[in-house]
Amino acid sequence: MRHETLAGQPRIPTEVSAMTAASPNVKPAYLRIANVWKAFGEFHALKDISLDISEGEFVCFLGPSGCGKTTLLRAIAGLDLQTRGSIQQGGRDVSTLPPSQRDYGIVFQSYALFPNLTIAKNIAFGLENTKRPRAEIEARVTELLKLVGLPDQGNKYPAQLSGGQQQRIALARAIAISPGLLLLDEPLSALDAKVRTHLRHEIKELQRKLGVTTIMVTHDQEEALSMADRIVVMNHGVIEQIGTPTEIYRHPATLFVADFIGEANKFAARASNNAVGIGAASFSCAAHDFDDGTPVIAAIRPEDIIPHASGSLANGATANAIDVTISEMEFLGSFWRTRLHGHALGNETLIADFSINAARRLSLVQGVALTVELPAERLLIYPRGA
Ligand SMILES: Nc1ncnc2c1ncn2[C@@H]1O[C@H](COP(=O)(O)OP(=O)(O)OP(=O)(O)O)[C@@H](O)[C@H]1O
Ligand SMILES: [Mg+2]
Repeated sequence: MRHETLAGQPRIPTEVSAMTAASPNVKPAYLRIANVWKAFGEFHALKDISLDISEGEFVCFLGPSGCGKTTLLRAIAGLDLQTRGSIQQGGRDVSTLPPSQRDYGIVFQSYALFPNLTIAKNIAFGLENTKRPRAEIEARVTELLKLVGLPDQGNKYPAQLSGGQQQRIALARAIAISPGLLLLDEPLSALDAKVRTHLRHEIKELQRKLGVTTIMVTHDQEEALSMADRIVVMNHGVIEQIGTPTEIYRHPATLFVADFIGEANKFAARASNNAVGIGAASFSCAAHDFDDGTPVIAAIRPEDIIPHASGSLANGATANAIDVTISEMEFLGSFWRTRLHGHALGNETLIADFSINAARRLSLVQGVALTVELPAERLLIYPRGA
């Protein structure tokens, strides 16, 4: 019997195809999501999602409510099968396997601990199915309790712990059987701000220590920026951009990403050769592919705008500078947020964030005139209407 696919192509073992698809200095993917679609009736919650995740990576799925983050995570977990496409983990095609035959631990937003079992029993739950000797299970539970910073809490019940503590137990339960993949669906969003920040570090630390490939779903950009090796930004069932936190923040591929992560001033503008016209002013910017005169959106982050003393950049000493007046100034603790108006901007408002030092140095107060610089390399240009 010949080993051929229907199309008559020779069958290639999945491990080999995964290896050859990667360039020599890139690790082969541990998790490979290929052309995944998910339909709920007529509605497509995921549209042709493809994504490779390396072993040991911490990846965040980030995007607004309803963009498909949980749907994708559930497909990876086998809790809700994709309509089309394939998922490989560790070189094994898991696309249609039930959850029990996949290799992952999962933590949900609601701690989902068994209320009638002690903390120790909760953590031991998955281990007991592995038929290990009792002493070994007990030792592992003790080790895990220590690992999540809650030694000596094993005899309590979930209701006797705080939300943050319960979530640490959920985490311990998820990693108890040393899964190849750790899946976290908004694990911190039910917790108050302080506990959240604290646990953020703990989870990241733990992940590093264990080296376990991790996917965390979140709609909190700060969480994603501070924890992820790579962020997958999703919107309406598609991937908008995949990149490291700095890539995503500094070089947003689309206006959606620029707007969703961090803040951005946006202006209707016109492209010209290596420049962009906003209102009456022309600003040089990084090279772009737009034809002269193409209507575009120019964007710049408030913190990228540089303040100078009024008139100090006169006589064209520096391009990309405009004269403005501060119409509003808001103290936000670590910086000042200002609303700026100026002749060159027409009726538009420019929001700029200035450091406490800069504000003091330049004696910035409401009503003061100053010159601001919009650095060419920080001006982002996007197609209009996209
Ligand atoms: N079982 C279902 N039946 C029908 N539609 C569904 C089902 N599950 C999800 N959807 C729809 O699919 C889309 C994606 O949902 P999903 O839960 O993946 O979003 P999400 O990105 O996780 O959002 P959130 O941040 O609110 O958790 C939504 O429009 C949702 O209404
Ligand atoms: Mg969700």
